[in-house]
Amino acid sequence: MIFGKIPKPKKHVFICVQNRPAMHPRGSCVAKGATAVYEAFARQFEKEKLFGEFALTTTGCLGPCMKGPTVLVYPDGVMYAQLKPEDVPGIIEQHLKGGKPVEDLMISPNIWG
Ligand code: FES
Repeated sequence: MIFGKIPKPKKHVFICVQNRPAMHPRGSCVAKGATAVYEAFARQFEKEKLFGEFALTTTGCLGPCMKGPTVLVYPDGVMYAQLKPEDVPGIIEQHLKGGKPVEDLMISPNIWG
């Protein structure tokens, strides 16, 4: 066997890094700053040695492009919207480590729910 057992993470963070041409009617999370949000998660994961306990995966479009950058956390099924890099430490502390989603940053159930 080439690989050993892969640990199942407590939570899995999916970050939309979909890009689209500038004139595309849906826009994209990358055009709204998703790369910096991803980098903020990755830096903090590395700094705090969180990889393994939690997983971080870039993904394509999650649906509500108009509210990007979007981030989805499983198994909780919580989506965050219009994130900025400065929102990331709070999500890591309160949601990933503490188990309590950051309600102020969650997408409206009128849009995703
Ligand atoms: S481009 Fe990110 S949700 Fe659609």
